Amino acid sequence: MLPQLDVKVAKKAILEGFRKTDELLLQESVSGNLCVFVANIGDAKAVLARSSNTNELGSHTETCIPLKAIVLTREHKAIYPQERSRIQKFGVTATPDIHAFELTERENFMILGCDGLWEVFGPSDAVGFVQKLLKEGLPVSVISRRLVKEAVKERRCKDNCTAIVIVFKRG
Ligand SMILES: *[C@@H]1O[C@H](CO)[C@@H](O)[C@H](O)[C@H]1NC(C)=O
Repeated sequence: MLPQLDVKVAKKAILEGFRKTDELLLQESVSGNLCVFVANIGDAKAVLARSSNTNELGSHTETCIPLKAIVLTREHKAIYPQERSRIQKFGVTATPDIHAFELTERENFMILGCDGLWEVFGPSDAVGFVQKLLKEGLPVSVISRRLVKEAVKERRCKDNCTAIVIVFKRG
């Protein structure tokens, strides 16, 4: 029998982790620049939509210029040699990859998705899909639902297709 996990202790550890992270980030952010941190463990993927040019008129999502899709995360899958050797050295660990970027005029939105989503959507494909709906003026909650619906109903995603769309508002 495995020893029982103490739920109270586990909850406390998670809460403490969030509190400490919040506290440290607040201390670090007094300098004024807004940064986004993406920490991941596992095979979910975060994709950032960034415009290549800051001199466009108006909001970037309203222009027809395609946004660049930047994959921020490295999937932790044993099929990749780098991840396989990491597992062989230390086993499966709780150490995330952390990626940070500064929020400027060029960052439009970010898509966080489970591996299922990325099996049926390429990064640029998903960015284009979301950009088009933003251009139509749809709220982000509707857009994320449309993205998942497209993945499941049209593209026959069989795996977990959970997705979160985060739009960076300015002004
Ligand atoms: C799908 O993935 C999300 C995010 O990781 C998770 O919260 C949820 O429990 C998963 N659903 C299933 C059915 O595994």
